Amino acid sequence: MSITSNRVRAAAYSFEPIRQFYFYSRYADRRGDPDICDFTFGNPHEMPLPGLVEAIRHYAVPHNKDWFAYRASEPEPQTFMAERLSQELSLSFEPADIALTNGAMAAIAVAFRLLLDPGEEAIFSLPAWFCYEPMLLAADAVPRTVRLRGDRFDLDLSAIEAAISPRTRLVIINTPHNPTGRIYSRDQLTDLADLLNRASERIGRRIFLLSDEPYRRIRFDNHDFTSPAAVYPWTVVAYSYGKVLLAPGQRLGYLALSPLMPSSDKQALQSSLFAAQMALGWCFPNAVMQYALPDLEGLSIDMHALSAKRAWMTEALERAGYEVLRPEGTFYLFCKCPGGDGGRFWDALAGRDVFVMPGSVMGVPDHFRISLTASEPMIERSLPVFAEVAQAICDARQPAA
Ligand SMILES: Cc1ncc(COP(=O)(O)O)c(C=O)c1O
Repeated sequence: MSITSNRVRAAAYSFEPIRQFYFYSRYADRRGDPDICDFTFGNPHEMPLPGLVEAIRHYAVPHNKDWFAYRASEPEPQTFMAERLSQELSLSFEPADIALTNGAMAAIAVAFRLLLDPGEEAIFSLPAWFCYEPMLLAADAVPRTVRLRGDRFDLDLSAIEAAISPRTRLVIINTPHNPTGRIYSRDQLTDLADLLNRASERIGRRIFLLSDEPYRRIRFDNHDFTSPAAVYPWTVVAYSYGKVLLAPGQRLGYLALSPLMPSSDKQALQSSLFAAQMALGWCFPNAVMQYALPDLEGLSIDMHALSAKRAWMTEALERAGYEVLRPEGTFYLFCKCPGGDGGRFWDALAGRDVFVMPGSVMGVPDHFRISLTASEPMIERSLPVFAEVAQAICDARQPAA
């Protein structure tokens, strides 16, 4: 008999591939070594944005005796955020629609606690960020997965429809999508909304949508963005500043309720947000990050430099024979492993000090993900290695003459 709870054991089982990778793999042995090219996680490889440092420094100095008192979702940042989000998404948010959280992960945990009872089902599409499943299991909910469709990893609406059961309470959509970089169009999201309306009627219970949008502002070529909150009223949005500021360790984000939600449902959620955040163990941002929010809102990583890295790596990898899915958003490149054997390919790169995120931790073992948060010298050093490893795999597959 185990002394840990069933729910934590289920979450631990689900997290195991990423835990093994992070703590016990060849990558773990080399993590932090300046001689490697580390394209694994979306971590910074250069100094932080000066504006971020200035804001934290400024607001870390107490202005009064209450400066570091308990801070839940405070009215000033809520009001500020409601106004800015209304402009950004062309919707009319009110302050009570915004729950400030310590990042998107906390926003997602709050959404699960708010909407899902034990045994209820949440559907998401694979490949996916590796935390949805363990977080659902830790909330005593049941993850149901479907596959994204085709070489471009489109939403498969028929698969989502087929996965809906009388116990379905939530569908999770991540746009821009990690790891594929896809952004779902307004038309696709409208079709999804129609489907969820029909399915909710059929099962006699409202299905909610969680729109996980932490990469919302990281888009290439002025790509359009529609939030599901604008097309499906029963949407809750999770957001994080960790991506746009490239400072995932400084936890700041929010959960926002769609202003289109019928007022009785919206009021029920609004009035439960505080309880959900408290009961989960203080899912609020720390005081300094709340004060700094207005200063941080306008800051962003250098999108011009990120676009240049995307073009540089995509073109070089394609020239070397890789199949690369050119991302519409996020800071990732999603590629097929040459030769199709993900493990062998990953080992060959690791043997040359180049580390990528294996697709096996995201449900696609024949793919890998590159984080474009890498520095330019890392990219420069790695490109000949990518080319030589692909060539070696190709040579090994040629039949002997
Ligand atoms: C799709 C997705 N959702 C949520 C998160 C969590 O973001 P944060 O760590 O900033 O809370 C991440 C982080 O990698 C992510 O990729």
